[in-house]
Formats: sequence, structure tokens, C-alpha cells
Amino acid sequence: MNSNGKLEDKVKEVEQIIGKYLPEEKGYQKTVIQAMNYSILAGGKRLRPMLLQETYRMFQGTGEVAEPFMAAIEMVHTYSLVHDDLPCMDNDEYRRGKKTTHVVYGEGMAVLAGDGLLNFAFETAVKAFSFAEEKEEFDRIAKALSVFGQKAGIYGMIGGQTADIEAEDMGDGVTEEQLLFIHEHKTAALIQSAMMIGAILAGASKEEVGRIEKCAYNIGIAFQIQDDILDVTGSLTTLGKQTGSDEKNKKTTYVTLKGMEQAVEDVRALSAEAIEILSSFKERNEFLEGLVKRLITREK
Ligand code: IPE
Ligand code: IPE
Ligand code: MG
Ligand code: MG
Ligand code: MG
Repeated sequence: MNSNGKLEDKVKEVEQIIGKYLPEEKGYQKTVIQAMNYSILAGGKRLRPMLLQETYRMFQGTGEVAEPFMAAIEMVHTYSLVHDDLPCMDNDEYRRGKKTTHVVYGEGMAVLAGDGLLNFAFETAVKAFSFAEEKEEFDRIAKALSVFGQKAGIYGMIGGQTADIEAEDMGDGVTEEQLLFIHEHKTAALIQSAMMIGAILAGASKEEVGRIEKCAYNIGIAFQIQDDILDVTGSLTTLGKQTGSDEKNKKTTYVTLKGMEQAVEDVRALSAEAIEILSSFKERNEFLEGLVKRLITREK
């Protein structure tokens, strides 16, 4: 990624794809659909669908089969944010520069909107089968669906959010190993899912998918460390969410555990290692490498 313009174009491209798969706001269930669309259309960096698409391209994927998965992963990510912001979790009032879903639609509707996005994500991802013809293509989609379910669920994001809640109020009792478990699962898992799905759909080998999983682990951990940093150093205007949420909820974060300086250094080192892995493949994607580099100094 050489310029802002290019990144903005990518975001637009991704948003146009997501838009094709959003549910229509009609029927007696209209309110929940409005709440779903409110949260997903509020904005955001669209990082996960972008990583999915760019990894797909890196492995020479062409065609539309990745598109339903791009929309689906943004739905799962958005549901995780809607639930993460609920009063019973992080209790936050702003997200993506707007009032959180429960503030606008009420808690019950926000729970349902999250549930709705999760289910609709799988309905959407399954649409990828309509782009398959050969047995091999059906097999790749089946494999991608399995990764999608696993990385979002109890062995992925939900597992991480569980450990995150239980670590609240544990103060000094939270070990580095525990915190890394939290970061790996609550955040890196969906990033791994995005990049692995892109690779799998493009026909990457098992060994290549394994290297992508490791690369995305690094990107994901670095991403969450930076999120912890920005919760201290950022601002509502730039971030679109209120800072100080971690302190308010007595979370142990990478910053409280290792200090700001070490946190900044680790984001850099983890990202450098991720880029090294990316550059070790015979096919390179300059935009993808640039994107990872850019995340090191991101301010939102
Ligand atoms: C926020 O994710 C939650 C974390 C995993 C840190 P993003 O920072 O990608 O949020 P959006 O999608 O840009 O709003
Ligand atoms: C959230 O981590 C990870 C999710 C799975 C949603 P945080 O709670 O730190 O994310 P923000 O700071 O609210 O975006
Ligand atoms: Mg949280
Ligand atoms: Mg939160
Ligand atoms: Mg945070």
C-alpha cells in the first residue's frame, strides 16, 4: 500500500462486496435487521475481509468464491463487537464513531442483532458453493467453513472472550501466558481465519496454510497489543471508541503487564516477523505486506 488513496479504494471495494450480502430490512423481524445493518454499516477498517481477499489474491485466486466469506467474516467480527460492548461485558457507549448498538436499540435487540449476524454469517458463507463447479472447489469451501467455525467459536474468539472476562479483577494474578491466550483467541483467531480462508479458497497447500496461520498469529497479537496501546494513548475522535475502557474494567492488558515501551517494541517485532513470513512465499503481495507494515503505527 503506497498511499492513503489506495487503501481507501480497497475499503470501498470491500464495502461494496459486503453490501451485496446484507439482509433486507423488512417483515416483523425488521428491527433486528436494522440493528444488524446499523452496526455493520457504521464503518470500521474492514481489515478482516481485506486480509481474506488479499491472501486469496496472493495465492493467485481469481473469481467470486471469496466474496461471501469476506462479507461473512465482517458479520462475525461485527457481532463480536456488538456483544463485547454490552453492559454485561465491556459496557462501552461508542463504536466506530457512533453510539453502540445497545444504546440505540436496547440491550435485548443488541443481543439478538449479534446472534443474527452470527447466524447470517454462516448462511452467507455457504453461498460460496454457488460459485463451485469442480469437486476440488467444493472441498476447499468445506475446509474454509470448518476453519471459519472453529476460529470464531470456543476454540477461537469465544474462547478468548471467556478468558478475557474471567481475567478481570485478577490484577497481578494474570500471567503472560494467560494474556497471550486471551490475545491469541479473542483477536488473532479471526485474523487467522481470514487469511487461512483466503489461502484455502485459492488452493494453497496444507503447508502453506500452516505458514499463513503462523503469520496471522503474529499479525493478530500485534493488532491486539496496539489496541491495548491505543486504549491508553488514543482519542474518541480518531478511534471511534472511548479510551480508558480497559482501565475502567480492570483489565490486565499488554501495556499493564509489560509496560508501554515493551508493548510498542513487540508490535514492531511481531509485525516484522509476519512480513518475513509473507515475503518467504514465491508469490508476493506488495499491498498485503504494506498493510501489515502500516498496522504497526496505526492510530485507529
Ligand atoms: C476491534 O477490532 C476489536 C479488536 C479485535 C481489537 P477493529 O479495530 O478491527 O475494529 P473495526 O472493525 O475497525 O471497527
Ligand atoms: C475485543 O477486545 C476483542 C473482541 C473479540 C471483540 P477489546 O474489548 O479490547 O476490543 P475493543 O477495544 O472494545 O474494540
Ligand atoms: Mg473486550
Ligand atoms: Mg471492548
Ligand atoms: Mg480494546
